[in-house]
Amino acid sequence: MSSSRIESCQLLAFPPISDKRGDIGVIEAMRDIPFDIKRIYYSYNTPNSVVRGGHAHKKLHQLIMAISGSFDVMLDDGHTKRGVTLNQRDQGLYICPLIWRDLANFSKEAVCLVLASDYYDEMDYIRDYKDFISFLSVC
Ligand code: TYD
Repeated sequence: MSSSRIESCQLLAFPPISDKRGDIGVIEAMRDIPFDIKRIYYSYNTPNSVVRGGHAHKKLHQLIMAISGSFDVMLDDGHTKRGVTLNQRDQGLYICPLIWRDLANFSKEAVCLVLASDYYDEMDYIRDYKDFISFLSVC
């Protein structure tokens, strides 16, 4: 059911390995996150007024992190909406397939790091919200 889909979009904690030299964050595929990683990308220099995202993916799994600064993520499974603020380097938001997401309110120094389960494929995107709702009704 769609409600369980948005519930599976969880904040995951990655406790740092810390000593007097500082901290290391570690994320291992299929251990700390529920997918294999085929791609890493990051966005930065995002003006505060900009909303990124504005799409859903058909099959892609992602983990989104604020590796620096902060931003807000709005999740929508077509029935339920949920907002999450990312502002910690030791946690990330897992987003399963078929979740519409908007990213907004980027702080000046924000870097959004994304771990993705597959290579870039424009065919995996649903970029129109009406198409997203239609897609949900047939899948
Ligand atoms: P898009 O996914 O729409 O950005 P966001 O969700 O962060 O707002 O991607 C923006 C542009 O960059 C678009 O033209 C596709 C391109 N792009 C790639 O070529 N490869 C990638 O891995 C990503 C994420 C985007």
